[in-house]
Amino acid sequence: MPEVRAFSWEGRKVFLTGHTGFKGGWLALWLASKGAVVRGYALDPATDPNLFTVASVGKIVEDIRGDIRDGASLEKAMRDFAPEVVFHMAAQPLVRYSYEDPIGTYETNVIGTARVLDTVRRTQSVRAVVSVTTDKCYENKEWVWGYRESDPLGGYDPYSSSKACAELVSAAYRQSYFPVAKLAEHGVAVATARAGNVIGGGDWSVDRLIPDLVRGFLAGEAVRIRRPKAIRPWQHVLEPLHGYMRLAEELLTHDPKYATAYNFGPSEDDGQPVEWIAEKMTGFWGDGAKWVLDPDPGVHEAGYLKLDASRARADLGWAPHLRLETALEWLVEWYREWQAGGDMLAFTLGQIASYEALL
Ligand SMILES: NC(=O)c1ccc[n+]([C@@H]2O[C@H](COP(=O)([O-])OP(=O)(O)OC[C@H]3O[C@@H](n4cnc5c(N)ncnc54)[C@H](O)[C@@H]3O)[C@@H](O)[C@H]2O)c1
Repeated sequence: MPEVRAFSWEGRKVFLTGHTGFKGGWLALWLASKGAVVRGYALDPATDPNLFTVASVGKIVEDIRGDIRDGASLEKAMRDFAPEVVFHMAAQPLVRYSYEDPIGTYETNVIGTARVLDTVRRTQSVRAVVSVTTDKCYENKEWVWGYRESDPLGGYDPYSSSKACAELVSAAYRQSYFPVAKLAEHGVAVATARAGNVIGGGDWSVDRLIPDLVRGFLAGEAVRIRRPKAIRPWQHVLEPLHGYMRLAEELLTHDPKYATAYNFGPSEDDGQPVEWIAEKMTGFWGDGAKWVLDPDPGVHEAGYLKLDASRARADLGWAPHLRLETALEWLVEWYREWQAGGDMLAFTLGQIASYEALL
């Protein structure tokens, strides 16, 4: 693995879309804890409770509410701030919901991404953009091998396909307005990041395994689990976020090789079935927590899609640091602390510091 150069986020201006969401909330806190000056831009939190409110994210980052589809509002928010780095995470991120609202999903994930990149085009200060998509952007061939960044894009359901489209939009903007060969002239390095199912404290989304389990445990109800044999690329949220930050750091060097797509996947043996997660979670939670099989498999969900993260390892020195079991322990501790009325800003920053100690 390459040696990771010293880098400081101190005083760097970062524009982050999606800071009121799960991954965006963690990234906002992490960047702010490293001294970055963060302006978040997103809609209101989609759930109640939510990480943004519970962990007081708005106390340490600037909080702007707006829609990424609204070009004028987005442009004002980005240009006034004059950021050096843009992390684009705002999205409609749910597969099942995308079947109910395909048009809204495409509008936010595809047109919204084009709006963000178009705004970057007119914001002279930006030097690096990390646009977040997903492992689901690949055409899933239902095979056992890991997918590489050069594999064909695809997507069965509206969400997955919208993220494949977002990849194409980013590639087109890079080729048309920020070409890698002329990076020294225009000075804007654009990359995309593809990660799998992330878990951690503070996620209350609907139709996601961990929040469903936690909601059931808190209500003292047996949690209904669909597709117990389905294997997913589980990762603690801090793992891909570390990758996104490393990627931005290297994009700022303006070495053209980094302006491309990167996979951030878990270790091979952390691809575990849903029932394994449910068993571990009930064990860690205690208090008579239990789950039962839901015989309805629901809408089509693709089989296990394994990511090959060799490029991130080779270029960025990135690797997973938390075993899945530890990630589950950390997230149970997080929800327990919240349940006990703890200071969740301090607790979340504490977990970030514990993760940094592993790097
Ligand atoms: N959570 C996962 O397992 C996972 C896995 C792979 C990729 N991703 C990707 O990571 C990113 C963050 O996901 P998350 O899990 O934190 O989702 P989330 O639902 O918790 O957060 C989504 C964020 O996007 C914002 N948003 C949605 N529509 C918007 C719009 N039209 N204008 C402005 N803001 C809008 C929301 O307000 C929120 O801040 C998404 O791009 C998602 O596709 C997530």
